[in-house]
Amino acid sequence: MTKHVFITGAAGFIGYHLAKFLHSRGDKVLGYDSFNDYYTPQLKRDRALDLKKSGIEVIEGDICNVPLLQQSLKLHKTTDLAHLAAQAGVRYSLSHPQAYVKANIDGFVNILEACRLHPEIKLIYASSSSVYGLNTKIPFSENDRTDEPASIYAVTKKTNELLAFTYHHLYRIPVTGLRFFTVYGPWGRPDMSYFLFAKAILANQPIQLFNQGQMVRDFTYIDDIVEGIAAAIDLGAQHEIFNLGNHQPVELLQFIEILEKALGKKAIKKLAPMQPGDVVKTYADIEHSQKMLGFHPKTTLEEGVLHFVKWYRAYAT
Ligand SMILES: NC(=O)c1ccc[n+]([C@@H]2O[C@H](COP(=O)([O-])OP(=O)(O)OC[C@H]3O[C@@H](n4cnc5c(N)ncnc54)[C@H](O)[C@@H]3O)[C@@H](O)[C@H]2O)c1
Repeated sequence: MTKHVFITGAAGFIGYHLAKFLHSRGDKVLGYDSFNDYYTPQLKRDRALDLKKSGIEVIEGDICNVPLLQQSLKLHKTTDLAHLAAQAGVRYSLSHPQAYVKANIDGFVNILEACRLHPEIKLIYASSSSVYGLNTKIPFSENDRTDEPASIYAVTKKTNELLAFTYHHLYRIPVTGLRFFTVYGPWGRPDMSYFLFAKAILANQPIQLFNQGQMVRDFTYIDDIVEGIAAAIDLGAQHEIFNLGNHQPVELLQFIEILEKALGKKAIKKLAPMQPGDVVKTYADIEHSQKMLGFHPKTTLEEGVLHFVKWYRAYAT
């Protein structure tokens, strides 16, 4: 049976790639996005335009606009809802907590309520590695505690997981949460450090290495993430949470070297203190995702960064 997938945040980085992938394999895809200005809306418009060229529509709408959301879900005869719309970003959440409560908590309740009214819809939603917060046991496993979030962003993602559990418990909504780990690639997010670094290096501007450069991230390439999301949609579990990460943590300084090589240019590095809200290390245990989703990320950081740089040079310079 053909899947009718409704993607919120479809003009965003991950939503755009997911829409393209699902459409190419024959699913019917409809996007929904508010095109907000957290980062340049032009990039979102350009992604949506590219989707339109492939025959994928993105409705301009907010998940807090309940009548439009419900009408759009119905219009599409939605069988699967991939909920990726959110107020993203850890640092911005320190200065704009209300934006996170509105989009990530109020908005998520609207999504869950829509699913309660349409029990035929299976829900997949974006959580985040940030739920592991101050957890120091590595790699991070889905069974680890997640009750020490280090940022308001992380609180909202943890809240999503709690709400999803309870809606499943009360109303039997089939729901799967995906904890993404530092996703990067072409059409990426201009607020993320790899994007900011590339921009600064090309403009001969210094880059800031927080925590004196002593940071470790489990960078995960977008195509691998999209395969993981598609596998979760296909599994259609009753209630699950999965880590989607590369399982190959990399030190920030090593990442900079890979980026310098891809750009053919050296960075001017400035060491800076640890930022409030940040965590030192992320590292995904993916045993559960491997077993249940057949999730085997295969893009090396060198390859993935080259793909990003190629796109960045063509699009942004
Ligand atoms: N990129 C990562 O590394 C990463 C890591 C962990 C979790 N996530 C989560 O994955 C999801 C997708 O992230 P992304 O990197 O593609 O971010 P993104 O900001 O590029 O995409 C999110 C999209 O949602 C839209 N949006 C925001 N609020 C909305 C609202 N109220 N109504 C409708 N649309 C709204 C935005 O306009 C944007 O296009 C988010 O939930 C994010 O928190 C991303």
